[in-house]
Amino acid sequence: MRVTVRLLAALWLAELLIIGAFTVAQVTEERARLHDDLERRASLLAEGLKEAVEPSVRRGSPAAVARVLRKFGRPDRRIAVYDAFAGLIATAPVPAAGRPASTAQGAAPARPAPPTPPEVAEAITSEGVRKGLRTADGQTTYVYATALPGSDRPLGAVVVELDASYLEAAEWAVWRYNILRFLALALGLGVITLLVVQLTVTKPMAELAEWAKQLRAGRPARVPAIGDASLFGPIATEVSGLARNLYRARAAAEQEAALRLRGEAIWTEERLKQFAQSQFGGQPLYVVSNREPLSHVWRGGKVLALMPASGVVSAIDPVMRACGGVWIGHGSGDADRETADEHGRLGLPPEDPRYSLRRVWLTEQEEAGYYYGFANEGLWPLCHVVHARPLFRPTDWAAYRDVNAKFAEALLEEMEGSEAPMVLIQDYHFALLPALVKAQRPDARVAIFWHIPWANFEAFGICPWHEEILLGMLGADLIGFHTQSHCNNFLESAERALEARIDWEHFTVVRGRHVTAVKPFPISVAPTFVEDPPTTSRAELCARLGVNAEFLGVGVERVDYTKGLPERFLALQRFFELHPEYRERLVFVQLGAPSRSRIPRYQELAAQVEATVEAVNRAVGTRGWKPILYLPAHHDRHDIWPFYRHADFCMVTSLHDGMNLVAKEYVSVRDDGDGVLILSRFTGAARELRDDALLVNPYDVDATARAILDAVEMPVEERRARMRRMHQHVREHNVYRWAGLLLGELARIPVEPGVRRPVGGPADVLA
Ligand code: F6P
Repeated sequence: MRVTVRLLAALWLAELLIIGAFTVAQVTEERARLHDDLERRASLLAEGLKEAVEPSVRRGSPAAVARVLRKFGRPDRRIAVYDAFAGLIATAPVPAAGRPASTAQGAAPARPAPPTPPEVAEAITSEGVRKGLRTADGQTTYVYATALPGSDRPLGAVVVELDASYLEAAEWAVWRYNILRFLALALGLGVITLLVVQLTVTKPMAELAEWAKQLRAGRPARVPAIGDASLFGPIATEVSGLARNLYRARAAAEQEAALRLRGEAIWTEERLKQFAQSQFGGQPLYVVSNREPLSHVWRGGKVLALMPASGVVSAIDPVMRACGGVWIGHGSGDADRETADEHGRLGLPPEDPRYSLRRVWLTEQEEAGYYYGFANEGLWPLCHVVHARPLFRPTDWAAYRDVNAKFAEALLEEMEGSEAPMVLIQDYHFALLPALVKAQRPDARVAIFWHIPWANFEAFGICPWHEEILLGMLGADLIGFHTQSHCNNFLESAERALEARIDWEHFTVVRGRHVTAVKPFPISVAPTFVEDPPTTSRAELCARLGVNAEFLGVGVERVDYTKGLPERFLALQRFFELHPEYRERLVFVQLGAPSRSRIPRYQELAAQVEATVEAVNRAVGTRGWKPILYLPAHHDRHDIWPFYRHADFCMVTSLHDGMNLVAKEYVSVRDDGDGVLILSRFTGAARELRDDALLVNPYDVDATARAILDAVEMPVEERRARMRRMHQHVREHNVYRWAGLLLGELARIPVEPGVRRPVGGPADVLA
């Protein structure tokens, strides 16, 4: 309140000074204008009369002078003629109100003559003009006295006195007007200031204080939105950071205590943090992935931060939050440059930085060849058994090599000064990176985790550059896949394509003095899908979607041909054909994040998905009910949470998938112990959840339709028992455990000591 008063006082004082200064200027100007007007009128009259009375004065005829003056008498002025000794000769008679001065009867009764103004004598003496304002007896007049010229000395003088009392009235009117203006403005400013202070200071501060109080009391609360970041941004960020750290530390301690009490040995963020400290003693962890954990894009003139729909991002972000370090990724957002420093770096998460993101910039050509071309039209269909023909263009391969070298440069730059760094490379975009890094930093411990399947050698061997890919990957000390069968396929490929010794007992590849371990590490999700889940109820969700359904199914995918979307929709159609009693009672909501949409195969798929949804809705839908609600857009994790939480079943029908984290996300959100997971047997997740998910072959439309029926008709006890077991499994086999096992394995691998001075860059290694 005191701040508001001070602010108001300052504003009012400023207003007072400004309006005061303006008023003084206005009054001065007005006074000058009126003064000029008086002078002009008085001089016209006096100078005009001079000629008229001069002969009569010369003749010494006061009566004649009086006759001339008779016509000029008016109540607001006095005109008089004086002789050479300033003696009054005659004055113009002042008429009674409403009568002309020229009629003798109209003249007011004679009044005693006023004293001669000093200007008369002065004008005669100086033989010129004397003029100015005079105040006598409380009355202000304007006096204009002009000498009547004679042959050697003046004959006398003509004097005109005009009433100037209205000058003060006019000045006072200006003051009065500006005082009113000041008061009105002060009132307006007061109201606006109070409102602004209330909305931008008092309210946010009160919310921030309440939020901090809640956190202090150990209750999780969502960070209040701070409207004016430029005003409160820095302090709000600091306070939020402190409070968040406090809350996190408290939650971690409570969680650890609770786990200890229950005798559970679950991996948590805190445990991974401690583990990382013990394993690599505060050295930062270096992660490289194509997809960056947060991209910034322009939307409607504003910069928006988006967490991409990517399994790599969902899995690695919690690990980086726990371990800290540097994540190198492609800066693909159109506002990425504006939101990073000149080296492409920024702290993440933005509100409470715990690791750093280094963005690598690619040209359109590089992105087209490396990402869209070789990675996604070559390796992606090569590794997924979905009968999509891989395309191998030499230009794409060249771009892939160049971009791998570019990322290697960035990584080496980031690692400068760090001894025996731990490097975790992600996915099929960077098959060449391990060898590039190892060649220049043999002291680094390098792992590459392949998030997609690895095909058998018959399939893999069709890639014209399969040897280079294998050699690039074998530069790593550790290669991770989701499943043992992917490891076996890789080892078999290395055995058949290269001169290398495969140790099938220890699952290693030995080439010269270098040993690469190849091991399965089934990836997972963090136990908490979002830290502060929304409070949306099922009824609210349905109302928002405009659906009225007894059963709700959900699918959450990038629109990708490996995900089996058309197959899923055909299974839904079959279900409604076989079980029409479920029509108008069940709605399936498909969230589809647009993906790789520059690739023709993905464009075809997007059209095919839309057409299939339409065809199914037409075939089995009714007037007021559509069985499938397709929402193609990028969906934020907060938006996805209510779908997972309230869906009676979730469908994951990938035709082939390395792991599929949607299955695990759905299960992890269901700590209410309800919901059914329909899961393709061709996913890595199916190996872990095979006992309790309803496993399907997505190519078998009838069988998938039967699984939908089983999902909606499953007895509640069985449903809950299955979900509880799956939930527990995912909770225990979470991403912190995945990272702990992988990093633990990597930390145990002996590496060459010392840093090798690079003779050239990564490009030379590839040459
Ligand atoms: O499945 C492997 C993966 O890299 C996942 O992380 C992610 O879901 C997807 O492929 C990557 O998609 P994008 O091409 O959009 O990065």
